[in-house]
Amino acid sequence: MLNHLRRKLTWNYSTWFFITLLIVLAVLFLLVKSMLFETANEDIQDILHYELEKYKGQDAIEVKPEASPSLYFSVVLSKSAHSIRGVQPAGKDAQTFSKFVRKQPCCRSEGKLKNLKGHFGDEMHIIYASARIDKNSTLFVGKNISSIHEKIEHWFFSLSLIGLAALMISVIMGDRLARKAMKPIIQNIEGQKKFIADASHELRTPISIFSASLEVLENEERDKLSPFSQETLNELKDEVRQMNGLVANLLMLAQEDAGQLKMNKESFSFAELAGQLVHQYERLYEGKRQIALHVPDDKMLVEADRVRIKELLHVLLDNACKYSVLGSSISITVQKEEGRILSFTVEDKGAGIPAEEIPYLFDRFYRVEKGRSRQAGGAGLGLSIAKAITDLHDGTIKVSSWPGEGTIFSVRLPILANIL
Ligand SMILES: Nc1ncnc2c1ncn2[C@@H]1O[C@H](COP(=O)(O)OP(=O)(O)OP(=O)(O)O)[C@@H](O)[C@H]1O
Ligand SMILES: [Mg+2]
Repeated sequence: MLNHLRRKLTWNYSTWFFITLLIVLAVLFLLVKSMLFETANEDIQDILHYELEKYKGQDAIEVKPEASPSLYFSVVLSKSAHSIRGVQPAGKDAQTFSKFVRKQPCCRSEGKLKNLKGHFGDEMHIIYASARIDKNSTLFVGKNISSIHEKIEHWFFSLSLIGLAALMISVIMGDRLARKAMKPIIQNIEGQKKFIADASHELRTPISIFSASLEVLENEERDKLSPFSQETLNELKDEVRQMNGLVANLLMLAQEDAGQLKMNKESFSFAELAGQLVHQYERLYEGKRQIALHVPDDKMLVEADRVRIKELLHVLLDNACKYSVLGSSISITVQKEEGRILSFTVEDKGAGIPAEEIPYLFDRFYRVEKGRSRQAGGAGLGLSIAKAITDLHDGTIKVSSWPGEGTIFSVRLPILANIL
């Protein structure tokens, strides 16, 4: 459960951290991109201005070739754009630009971006603007900004790398923050575990004395007790038995926490053990409960801790009986699998468990529909004991449930004896 919580916290912190970094990177990218574009836009407007000044006042517009290689394109079109009156500089790229602007409307003093196919098939990124020179002619100027485009692409690539690093940093930071946040929770839980271990140790002796005293009282005073006192005594014995079971369960879980849960391995027949338990339950319910036991025609010899395996079956059978109505069917099906695996299911046709409760089912003191469980007298420890026992035997326990239809607990344990 703690690991699950830590993973969830790490995931949450990392996601938020990464999203924040991603937003910062995206803002940075857009900022730099718009700055570069703004500079190019200012340039093209200056060029437009400069070129317009050149042609102002000329009666017959004369486009003279530039002495030095020009850094921009300049095209003068007749009003109808049917004829090109002049293109600067000479060269294929300028021709491409002039072909393009013939189809463009006039006039636009703000720079506009366009991708053109260059003469050699390469992509040419240009920014262009236009203005009217006089009634008959319009001026288009453009600038090849492929190098700026390249810079933007490099910038994007660098930011993507930074983003990747940010992702790693986010996970590391998320994990650190989650560990920090978990520290007081872990301390708290450790404290609780210690308290449970100490308390159950301390409670064991008084409960044993209490139980023994009740036995003595019953043996010596049985004849003198009134029916009411006898009933009270029986109730007391029941309570003591329940308390004893609870303390034993708590002690076992405390031992598991401390890594001191020991396994007393012995060889026994699982089929016989299951059969005995089924009879016990049927006797307990005075024949009002039928439990079907399906076992292969085999003794099913296993090597495991008999007491604990019995406890595991007991937990599952107890639940199956408690959470289903009298008369509904309960069945245990045992099977042999490869790799020394003994698998068995305990199935009931009872109340079932809602899907959202299933992940917490094996947590200590967890009970579905608290009211229902209290009525049935459970402490919410049975399944955590079952999980501890399957873990001790390197096995697994799973649950499938359909609310209103029933529940199946499936256990797999690698305990089948090697019979040569
Ligand atoms: N076969 C089942 N059908 C329906 N609900 C079940 C079944 N088995 C367990 N549950 C639900 O899971 C909860 C946890 O079971 P668990 O055995 O751990 O505790 P409990 O039965 O309440 O108490 P305890 O076993 O300690 O006496 C139960 O309270 C019950 O709501
Ligand atoms: Mg139970």
